[in-house]
Amino acid sequence: MGKHGKKQSHRHNRQGRTASYYLEKPDEEIQEYPLGPQTSSAQEPTLSESDKESQEEETQEKETNFDKNPSINNDLLSKFSLYQQSVQSPKGDISYLQKFFLMYVGGRLPLHLQEDFCGTALLSVEWLHSDARRSAVGLDLDAEALNWCMDNNMNKIGADVHSRISLFHGNVLQPLECRLVNLDPREIIKNIKIDDEGESKTSSLNSTSQGSPKAVCRTKLMKDAKLPARDIVCAFNYSCCCLHSRKELVLYFKHALNALTTKGGIFVMDLYGGSSSECELRMQRRFPNFTYTWEQAEFDIIQRKTRISLHFNLHKQHKKIRHAFSYSWRLWSLPEIKESLEEAGFRSVHFWIRNMPDSEEIRCMDGFPVGRDLKYEEVKSFQQQDSWNAYIVGVA
Ligand SMILES: C[S@@+](CC[C@H](N)C(=O)[O-])C[C@H]1O[C@@H](n2cnc3c(N)ncnc32)[C@H](O)[C@@H]1O
Repeated sequence: MGKHGKKQSHRHNRQGRTASYYLEKPDEEIQEYPLGPQTSSAQEPTLSESDKESQEEETQEKETNFDKNPSINNDLLSKFSLYQQSVQSPKGDISYLQKFFLMYVGGRLPLHLQEDFCGTALLSVEWLHSDARRSAVGLDLDAEALNWCMDNNMNKIGADVHSRISLFHGNVLQPLECRLVNLDPREIIKNIKIDDEGESKTSSLNSTSQGSPKAVCRTKLMKDAKLPARDIVCAFNYSCCCLHSRKELVLYFKHALNALTTKGGIFVMDLYGGSSSECELRMQRRFPNFTYTWEQAEFDIIQRKTRISLHFNLHKQHKKIRHAFSYSWRLWSLPEIKESLEEAGFRSVHFWIRNMPDSEEIRCMDGFPVGRDLKYEEVKSFQQQDSWNAYIVGVA
């Protein structure tokens, strides 16, 4: 950026996903932003420098480190809820998943989804809503996120939907060893034993303890679970960047391929890039009740690593949840992903990219929408930009 005379600024705004779950946006082509802000005319895209400073000052004294204030986690202002509101756009992702499946596989509807690195499994829950024949498998190593999912996303769905989702706790690099954390209500009832005092005890469940899922079923590993072969496996919000070595990446892709049905399926992941992704960056976006900050640390060009931190600033509560999420990421290039997918055994790999407005443009923009009409397009070649977002599709 410096080379091109662009001033690197704290107002520099990385485009991110347009997310909305609780804030309900229409189920249409949804603007995609890397872990980014929601776009709506009701919300400001970028804070002006003065806004930002006054906001920083306002909250300085009451800054809260999330980890020291677990009570924040218990309501709608938990870091997971804030993340879902500001970062995720499951409906947009699902539209593209369906489109890719029909294009590269076709002949049937995709019914069985596996969401790797699922976090709070918002996408899986959304997937189940649209068709009663659908099933979903979610996998993540963050027990806290899975617990939050069970308490907040799963409890909003009916028993029918509940029985079609299987959440697993563990490492995507050892999927078969991952443990089932949500039980079918029928199994829960089966496991309840009445003791001598007439008190019920759920015998196969672990008690809640910090750092472990609330309801890990001791006996059920993924390898023992009867799951339908998946039509689609996905890894969104740049989760593959959590894998730091090529060996891990290829191993993960092999596991994804193994989960797919032999009838033909796809693996879909996303990635961001552009010259603005390889430098320090900070962007803020304001929502009605909170401000979301994406902070990108220095970029190491030897290891291609950076640290991404997400902060939330709760307006009414005058509280900051600093480092609500923090990731050490290896920023993979598109050819590295393609070669690794091919090495893992995928038949073909397709890139769908959309250019994002560059930082200069955004800095000058007054309000929304930012590139609302831009769609992803399949490309064979794409010139470097300030910022881009990609879906990568591996066809089994
Ligand atoms: C960037 S978040 C993405 C969450 C969610 N997929 C989304 O779309 O917002 C990355 C997630 O990957 C999980 N994760 C990181 N490494 C993992 C691994 N090796 N196995 C399973 N989950 C992993 C983290 O716990 C975190 O929930």
